[in-house]
Amino acid sequence: MPLSQVCLAFGDPDPSPLVLVVQRLGVRPEGGEQGGRGRGGADARRVRGALPVVSHDGEFVIPDAEERLRRVRAVRSELRTNGPKRSRPFEGDFERVALPAADGDVLRDTLVAQGARVVIEIGLAYGSSALAIGEALCSTGAAEISHVVIDPFQSTASGNVGWALLTAAGLADHTPFIGEASSIALARLTAGGFTADAAFVDGSHRFHEVFVDLYFLRQLVRPGGLIILDDAAWPSVATALRYFEINLGWRPVPIEGRLTARRLPDERVEPDFAEFKAFVESC
Ligand SMILES: C[S@@+](CC[C@H](N)C(=O)[O-])C[C@H]1O[C@@H](n2cnc3c(N)ncnc32)[C@H](O)[C@@H]1O
Repeated sequence: MPLSQVCLAFGDPDPSPLVLVVQRLGVRPEGGEQGGRGRGGADARRVRGALPVVSHDGEFVIPDAEERLRRVRAVRSELRTNGPKRSRPFEGDFERVALPAADGDVLRDTLVAQGARVVIEIGLAYGSSALAIGEALCSTGAAEISHVVIDPFQSTASGNVGWALLTAAGLADHTPFIGEASSIALARLTAGGFTADAAFVDGSHRFHEVFVDLYFLRQLVRPGGLIILDDAAWPSVATALRYFEINLGWRPVPIEGRLTARRLPDERVEPDFAEFKAFVESC
């Protein structure tokens, strides 16, 4: 599907800045006009017109990406040391809501190990996890990276604090932001044929909303891709996840700290409804 149709899938006949960002980024379906996402292999990291340099581990790195990486790390370090410039007016809100920096490191390392170039994130808030994902994507040295961030309350409840950090980190151009509920945004991305390597889920923690997130991410994240969740110890999140483990073969991936990761099967199969396995223990 051509890019323009993916952008139209956002349902805006008069493209908003978001849609324009999506267009500029080349958010595209797998096998689209630009031919895959350049996953794997140093050659895939060469970009026409840019001068690749070879990093210490033998990978091609775009000089611009190195500068971006330095900036992202500086903004992450500032957030880790001094906290956000603005906070919601609730005692300890940042500490309670944001992903702790150490878990952000785990998230970053997991995505780097996965070779992720395209990531969907649900729940921006203070931008702690978003910066970690941004760092992971910049670490690849790839020019074609994309991090779709979804949060309907970034402006109204969070005063755009997370988005301001992403902008300060120089990540805005690679981060299409969708200010809608994930149930709406993910449905549109699915309809547009969007594909990601991985997703991070830290939005609404209500059972039905997490379930819908996972329902769509099953289609949006490529086979063999990763879905990482925060707060999967909450019964609402754990119960939603259990359906996909028990019925659809999502496999646990060991991960340190408080995050939970699942790998999607290498092939997407639809089980027969008669084979349904109950995933909620009866009361
Ligand atoms: C726990 S916070 C995310 C923290 C963030 N990962 C960080 O490190 O700062 C949850 C976020 O999910 C957002 N959210 C709530 N309902 C949502 C929905 N239906 N779709 C997407 N995001 C949602 C909230 O606005 C909030 O910013």
